[in-house]
Amino acid sequence: MKVLANSKTISGRLTRMNLLVSGTVLVLAALAFFSYDLISFRQSLVRSLETEAQIIGANSVSALTFNDPQSAEMTLQGLRRSPDVRYAFITVDGGATFAQYRAPGVDAEIEPIPLGPREVERDWVSGRHVLIAHRIVFQGNSLGVVYISATLQEIGRRARHYLLITALILLFCMAAALIISGVSQQLVAQPIVLLAQTARAVSRRKDYSVRAAPSEGSREMADLTGAFNDMLEQIEQQNEALSDARDELELRVQERTAELRAANRELEAFSYTVAHDLRGPLDSIAGIAFILAQTGAEPRDEETAEMIERLKISTQNMAALIDDLLNFARAATVTLKTDEVDLTAMATAIAEDMKTSDPKREVEFQIAELPKVRADAGLMRVVMDNLLRNAWKYTSHHAKACIEFSAKVQSGQIVYFVRDDGAGFDPQRAKELFEPFHRLHSKSEFPGTGVGLATVQRILARHGGRIWAEGRVEKGATFYFTI
Ligand SMILES: Nc1ncnc2c1ncn2[C@@H]1O[C@H](COP(=O)(O)OP(=O)(O)O)[C@@H](O)[C@H]1O
Ligand SMILES: [Mg+2]
Repeated sequence: MKVLANSKTISGRLTRMNLLVSGTVLVLAALAFFSYDLISFRQSLVRSLETEAQIIGANSVSALTFNDPQSAEMTLQGLRRSPDVRYAFITVDGGATFAQYRAPGVDAEIEPIPLGPREVERDWVSGRHVLIAHRIVFQGNSLGVVYISATLQEIGRRARHYLLITALILLFCMAAALIISGVSQQLVAQPIVLLAQTARAVSRRKDYSVRAAPSEGSREMADLTGAFNDMLEQIEQQNEALSDARDELELRVQERTAELRAANRELEAFSYTVAHDLRGPLDSIAGIAFILAQTGAEPRDEETAEMIERLKISTQNMAALIDDLLNFARAATVTLKTDEVDLTAMATAIAEDMKTSDPKREVEFQIAELPKVRADAGLMRVVMDNLLRNAWKYTSHHAKACIEFSAKVQSGQIVYFVRDDGAGFDPQRAKELFEPFHRLHSKSEFPGTGVGLATVQRILARHGGRIWAEGRVEKGATFYFTI
């Protein structure tokens, strides 16, 4: 019954189809047989009743002629041998009953239905009874009519027999269908089930090396299994080719990355060397300018004094550029040494330093007490230095200024910020601030090299953080960063 219970399997469906078809055929055949039997039974019943009516008619001629009802009743008693006959009687021509017969236990009366003047024989079916009328004719004269009524109960009995036989055959068919479906499962469903299992294993494990077992059933199944295995073979080959191509690509990417890294390292080493080696000669030029300014021939003319002054300023600018470039190169190459860093203390020290370097300026510092953070102290010093000195520089055109260093929590992350109320910048160009040598203010307005913020961004990126800025012209600027 497993095949029937699981109606979604192929074998289950085959079984149900088998049962349905054979059941329908059987019921239709039984119905046809029954109808045929019903008609022929009725016909033969009517025929035998007619024969009996003729015999009774012939035997009753003398009884009718000599008005001897007892003899006619004797003749009617002969009907006892026909079990279907329930009631019979003879009427004389006028319609009055001459003689009658009743099967034991029958007391119903039947109204005689008159025959037409030339009618000799007729039969009627009413309900479960059939009625036969036969005219008794002697030497061309009608003497009377014989009526015989028989029951059709036999038909009901036959129907019950048919029902029983049909049910038995149906049961037998079901058993046969189950056996056939069992066999068909072996032949048809089993190979399909095996194929489906293989397909499932392939799709789950993505293992294209498995193969479906060759089918010994039908040729179609063998073809299907073969085609399926071919498909797997092709997929496997394509996969191999794909994975080879991917490996090759990865290798090439690795090679290119290594080349790029080497080139980058060379470039950084080069810029570091240039910056470092420029510092020496520059220091000696600055030294000579200083000595010239102190010990040169007196009295010195104004022109020479101005030239010496310009020489001093140029060397100072160049020294600042070289320092910035050195910091920029170092930010990329130096190995990180993380430590507990106190940004509050750092900011306070830088602020003090700036205030003593230019005591005339009126700048208020608001530095928040912040918890320590894990970072590289040397590099964080460069970050704080750049941001606070920028704030100091870009507020220098205002008589009074306020510079703030604090932090806030945003989306569960600490965001530090340095805010000032100075010159500000065009917010549309905020992204350019962090590109090396990009400056939003002219050198005559605010001196500088344009390398500071690029260095700051590099350092924060190496710590896994980032930096962004907000500002408006003459409305101050705020630099936010995470570590
Ligand atoms: N606090 C600030 N206020 C307004 N503009 C600023 C501020 N900080 C930086 N900038 C702008 O960003 C540019 C790049 O800054 P930076 O890299 O530090 O270079 P530098 O300070 O040498 O000019 C500056 O030239 C300036 O235009
Ligand atoms: Mg700067």
